[in-house]
This record gives sequence, structure tokens and C-alpha cells, in this order.
Amino acid sequence: MHKNILIIGATSAIAQATIRLYAEQNANLYLLGRNLEQLETIAADAKIRGANQAVFSALDVTEYETHESVLNEVFEKFITLDTILIAHGTLPDQAACEQSVAVTLQELNTNALSTISLLTLLANRLQTQQSGCIAVISSVAGDRGRQSNYVYGAAKGMVSIFLQGLRNRLMPYHVHVLDIKPGFVDTPMTAEFKKGPLWAQPEQIAKSIINAIEKRKNTLYTPVFWAGIMFIIRHVPEVIFKRLKL
Ligand SMILES: NC(=O)c1ccc[n+]([C@@H]2O[C@H](COP(=O)([O-])OP(=O)(O)OC[C@H]3O[C@@H](n4cnc5c(N)ncnc54)[C@H](OP(=O)(O)O)[C@@H]3O)[C@@H](O)[C@H]2O)c1
Repeated sequence: MHKNILIIGATSAIAQATIRLYAEQNANLYLLGRNLEQLETIAADAKIRGANQAVFSALDVTEYETHESVLNEVFEKFITLDTILIAHGTLPDQAACEQSVAVTLQELNTNALSTISLLTLLANRLQTQQSGCIAVISSVAGDRGRQSNYVYGAAKGMVSIFLQGLRNRLMPYHVHVLDIKPGFVDTPMTAEFKKGPLWAQPEQIAKSIINAIEKRKNTLYTPVFWAGIMFIIRHVPEVIFKRLKL
């Protein structure tokens, strides 16, 4: 049986690495993103790698009014979905957010509210089909607010709490909800950052995502050492944490 997989934000480097692995499993892929030219290339590559089907269409996730019709088209094509991966995101300029309500709200829109809008529609579909996995890339940044990126962290934290509730709601319907929390990943989003030993490649993250989906994990810290780092970060008393330059 070929799995039916929907990838939202399919041009993301982590999504592309995941698409390549699903293509090798001969999956049926539905790719959504805002860059049609790039989606066409990704879909063609997936077909060469073994995808049974690789279709794509346009979705700018901040255009809420299109969410329902675009998802309707997905379900017309595939009827049921085995896995949904939501991967889009932007890394806000924290200093710019501090100076502008509009920039802050735009970042919260892209990184949290758009995902919540899509999840609201997708959750009802999967509840009805009583199967499938909803996997969403949030971030370790959502575990605790830090001065250097708390707008991004707040958005990802909102997504993680939403996923917790969704998991609880969809449990009786056999729908698996996975919260993916990567640490530092070498992608276009982080192109300007100096890389070090804590950095991972998208291919490594993709493998861990597919593994976590197969094992029906609830939360994935990836690479796994981030589970330990974030355990410590979450447990530093606030009276100390507020004084740290993080
Ligand atoms: N890289 C890291 O260190 C890291 C760490 C933790 C979590 N994450 C999360 O991992 C996910 C994937 O990011 P990545 O690292 O793979 O970075 P990436 O390659 O820069 O991917 C980000 C993707 O989001 C898409 N996107 C942004 N705004 C969109 C919109 N309005 N509509 C549709 N698509 C939109 C971009 O599309 P375009 O190609 O059209 O711009 C791009 O494909 C994101 O959720 C990110 O927050 C990344």
C-alpha cells in the first residue's frame, strides 16, 4: 500500500529531506507551498526517487481564506491521509519585533495562527477518518521564553500547547499527534548563523521525524540530546533565568 502524505511548507529544507525519504518508500505525496516553481522541481525529484505520485499546489499559509478550499482539493485527490507534516516557518528579527506591533503580529501569524487554522480543519478530517498522523515542526525555542527570540518562542510554544490539546482530543479516534522540536538545523532559515557542534543537518532531522511517526511518539526532540538540554533549561528557576543573557 502506498502511504498518502500531505506536506505543508514543502519547500522547507527539513520538509524536502523528509519528502526524499517518503519518495523512496513509494508514497503518494501532496506538496503545498507558496513557491510553485520550486514545488514543481521537488515533485519531479520525488518521482525520480520513487514516489508513486507527487502532486503540488500553491498555498501561502497566511492567506487563511484559502485554507479550506486548498485542503478540500487535497482530500478530493487522496480521500484519506496517513500522515500530515506541517513544516513552514520564519525566523523573526527579534529586534524588529520589539519596535513594531505589525512585525510581531505578522510573525505570530506565520508561525502560530496559520498552523492553528490548518490544524483546526485537518483535525476534523482525521477525526472522521479515525486514523492518521498529524506531525508539526515547532521548536525547542517554544519550551521557554528567552530575550533573544521570544516572539518566535511564543509562537512555537502556542503551537505545542495546541498540539497537546489536539492529541488529547483525538486519542479516542486513533489519530496520532506528533510535536517535533528541532534544535539548531543548518537550513536557509539559519544561513546567517555561525555553525557549531550542536548543529544538525536536515537529513538527520528528517530521519528522526519519520522514525517518530512510525513509533507514534508524542514529542520529538531532535537530535535527541536536545531533550536533555531543554530539560535543564526548563528547570532553571525563573529568579535565575531572568538574569541570564540567552
Ligand atoms: N532551522 C532550524 O534551526 C530550526 C529549528 C527549530 C525549528 N525549525 C522549524 O523547522 C521548520 C522548517 O524550517 P527550515 O529550517 O526547514 O527552514 P527553511 O528551509 O527556511 O523553510 C521555511 C519554509 O517556510 C516556508 N514559508 C514561510 N512563510 C510561508 C508562507 N507564508 N506560506 C507558505 N510557506 C511559507 C518557506 O517558503 P518559501 O520557500 O516560499 O520562502 C520555507 O519553505 C520551520 O517551522 C522552522 O520554524 C527550524
